[in-house]
Amino acid sequence: MNFTSLPGLPLLRNFYIDNFKSLVDFSLPEDLGQLTCLIGLNGSGKSTLLQAFDFLGHLAIGRIDEWLRRREWQNSDLTSRFLKKQVIHFRLGFEFPQSGTVEWTGDFNVTQLRCTRETIRVGDKKDKVVLGLLRNESFATNARGESVEIPFSSLTFHGSVLSLLNTKGTHPAICDLKEFASHLRSLDMLSPHLMHKRAKDADDVGYGGERLSAYLHGLPKEEKVRLLTTLQGFYGQVQDWHTTTLQAGWKDLRLREAYPDAYGSSLVTMAHQLNDGMLRVLAILAQTGSGQPLSTSGKGQHYRCSLFDEIENGINPAIVEKLISHLLAAPQQIIITTHSPMILNYLPDEVACRAVVLCYRTREGKIRTRRFFELDEPKRKLQLLGPGEVFVDTDLAEAAAEAERQQGLQP
Ligand SMILES: Nc1ncnc2c1ncn2[C@@H]1O[C@H](COP(=O)(O)OP(=O)(O)O)[C@@H](O)[C@H]1O
Ligand SMILES: [Mg+2]
Repeated sequence: MNFTSLPGLPLLRNFYIDNFKSLVDFSLPEDLGQLTCLIGLNGSGKSTLLQAFDFLGHLAIGRIDEWLRRREWQNSDLTSRFLKKQVIHFRLGFEFPQSGTVEWTGDFNVTQLRCTRETIRVGDKKDKVVLGLLRNESFATNARGESVEIPFSSLTFHGSVLSLLNTKGTHPAICDLKEFASHLRSLDMLSPHLMHKRAKDADDVGYGGERLSAYLHGLPKEEKVRLLTTLQGFYGQVQDWHTTTLQAGWKDLRLREAYPDAYGSSLVTMAHQLNDGMLRVLAILAQTGSGQPLSTSGKGQHYRCSLFDEIENGINPAIVEKLISHLLAAPQQIIITTHSPMILNYLPDEVACRAVVLCYRTREGKIRTRRFFELDEPKRKLQLLGPGEVFVDTDLAEAAAEAERQQGLQP
């Protein structure tokens, strides 16, 4: 499976953000593919980057206050401690099957918790503005190409202006962007401790997996069957899983496992007794899905981008290969971080060349990124070794120094 075998997949291609926590004037390498795998030393901004994605995803939904509360963050935690700026600037480039190249830019004010300037542009030259929140004027273009003004004074919203826009009848690029952005999900705190909990309602598994049971409960029947089959491919002993509604709407997750030799029958395990690795795999599989529409109104799970921090945590080496094949075949964009050479070793070379991105800090403390296998040393070693072996054989501080030298040589 490679990038080109997934035609028509909506993709986030370019990513720029300024003043989000430690990410100052920060961009990812251009032209991201279906899989991006971030590597780098501790403190090189990998988890922060995942949080930035999650933040942007929540802009499109609104309710930024609630998102901050869930993460136990204050408004001031959102910006860089080294700058005195109130505004987070972002610019994201997308490639959508129908609406083509789409760019979403905005200035998010951390005091007002909303974008005070925002545009959506389309076309290769990004010269056609189809949504604008500019100088206290706002408008959106409808499907016939006519501009409809929205009085700024009447706008009360959190996050992006997209959060209050009914996209029905608007330009296809606005619909595509809202659908994709509102499904950007980062599971950067996927923790067994949180996953063991019961949950109420959910349209995702939660950044810590805390809504896993409720999310599973709400899946359509066919999706539940498909998820069981996929899980059985990882853990042959799993016979079934089911969720039940408890008092006050809490959802409880149980798994039935077969150990015929030991018990003569099957064993029902409650979520809080399940092993951590299996819970994490279940959360990852549930989040990445099978590509079928979740609802008739939505565009389906391929209009999603899911992010997982330190994907290998708690997962048995025997499972890693299956997990990587699953992620590469997932009908959606995936961004992961890893410290594990094994994860990299299961990537085909041509995928690794494009997917593996080194995050590093410059001597001034700025966080920068570079495609790892575009660096001379790793590129040379990849001719002889697997991607994971090159990772083991490379001093990441030296790789960062090489990346900076190359950067300096660029015009
Ligand atoms: N608001 C902020 N301003 C500047 N730096 C920050 C802010 N919040 C966190 N940091 C720093 O950014 C770094 C983030 O590292 P992190 O994203 O956790 O790296 P990794 O996941 O690669 O180990 C940490 O060194 C942290 O101290
Ligand atoms: Mg981290």
